[in-house]
Amino acid sequence: MDKIVIHGGERLVGEVAVSGSKNATLPIFASSLLAEGENRFYGVPDLNDVKTICEVLKNLGVKIGRGQGGDYLLDGTELAGHEAPYKLVKTMRASILVLGPLIARARRAVISLPGGCAIGARPINLHMKGLEKMGAEIQLRHGYIEAKTRGLRGADIYLDISTVTGTENLMMAAALAKGETVIENAATEPEVVDLAEVLNKMGGNISGAGSSIIRIKGVKQLTATEHTIIPDRIEAGTFMIAAGVTKGNIHIRNCKLDHMEAVVNKLREAGMEILREDDGTRAIGNKRIKSVDIKTLPYPGFPTDMQAQIMVLMTLARGLSVISETIFENRFVHVGELRRMGANIKIERSSAIIKGVKGLSGAPVMATDLRASASLVLAGLAAEGETEVSRVYHLDRGYEKLEEKLASLGAHIRRDPRK
Ligand code: EPZ
Repeated sequence: MDKIVIHGGERLVGEVAVSGSKNATLPIFASSLLAEGENRFYGVPDLNDVKTICEVLKNLGVKIGRGQGGDYLLDGTELAGHEAPYKLVKTMRASILVLGPLIARARRAVISLPGGCAIGARPINLHMKGLEKMGAEIQLRHGYIEAKTRGLRGADIYLDISTVTGTENLMMAAALAKGETVIENAATEPEVVDLAEVLNKMGGNISGAGSSIIRIKGVKQLTATEHTIIPDRIEAGTFMIAAGVTKGNIHIRNCKLDHMEAVVNKLREAGMEILREDDGTRAIGNKRIKSVDIKTLPYPGFPTDMQAQIMVLMTLARGLSVISETIFENRFVHVGELRRMGANIKIERSSAIIKGVKGLSGAPVMATDLRASASLVLAGLAAEGETEVSRVYHLDRGYEKLEEKLASLGAHIRRDPRK
């Protein structure tokens, strides 16, 4: 399994471009199941999770072609099957995003139940509850969701928790349902808004995306469209923190600051300079980082997907900071590895108390999930000596060529393909 080896201590300076958003690409690709014709999606990131969703969609009959770089063609005119098998779903739980569109278009779906993962149990009860309200009959058998319907109809759905992929699944299902669906307490993430934009370009009738009440008037048919995926706000935030932990100065191209208010505010509070420039954003790390308290919340609050990364910055800050993780029940797995690099972190239930230290020291560490692996790379950039991050297949799920981008900024980093 690949490792990434980093010699820390280099100040990162230069320019880097953010790739398209993984968490916008996955639901938008799944929406190709709803429409007749050939969709053209641009600015798609080159990630293992994108490869996985393509495998799932091909297995359902979607024809997929690749143009230059991040250009993809997806044609869902002829569906052939309605099953997403365990061998594919187990590698990426976001495969559940085919459930809503499949049952809306094919009136049948047999999807492997996504298991839990390192960061939590990740139930999908709210996805299923919403679909049942729309007239789906759902049974759980032998680890699979077996869903069928004589035709979905609009419903008023209140989400107990503003689940991101739950909102996306229900929005896609409602797009072809008979009548109007209202989703209350909907997720408001930019990725939900990007999906709604695609569905409307396909001929859908969706209003309110980005707010907590989304109205979807079902239509008879959707037709393929073209769309450029929004930039990945989590990758952009990761590069900002790379500047913070190395006292660097990085110009980040293709970064939508208005998707990152909570992150930018916290980094400024911690003493970093985050400057809007005409063709992007500049992140400047400062000599002394101040400790700040962080609480992860649904958008527009501080994103849980940036929690592990900002924790690295806080391990080097002056004073005590408290990071409370309110979204997932087990998202501190990176803490043990950071401690091995000299970080002073105590966990009290769902909060981590971090006491800043003078510096981190390089060590062999192991990635456990996507964002934890990014935090270990960030720690390696700041640490004195060599850090070896193993199990970087986690990283490859959600970051496109991260080590190449960091090397272009002056990091001493390489991938070691030792088996
Ligand atoms: C999406 O996951 C993202 N993934 C996650 O990013 C992100 O961390 C998460 O939203 C929160 O922002 C994609 O968009 C593909 P949720 P999702 O449903 O939709 C509970 C990354 O690193 N819940 O919003 O699976 C759940 O347990 C990944 O890119 C239920 O109880 O997250 C959690 O506590 C990691 N029942 C909370 O809601 C349900 O039916 C939020 O989960 C659904 C969710």
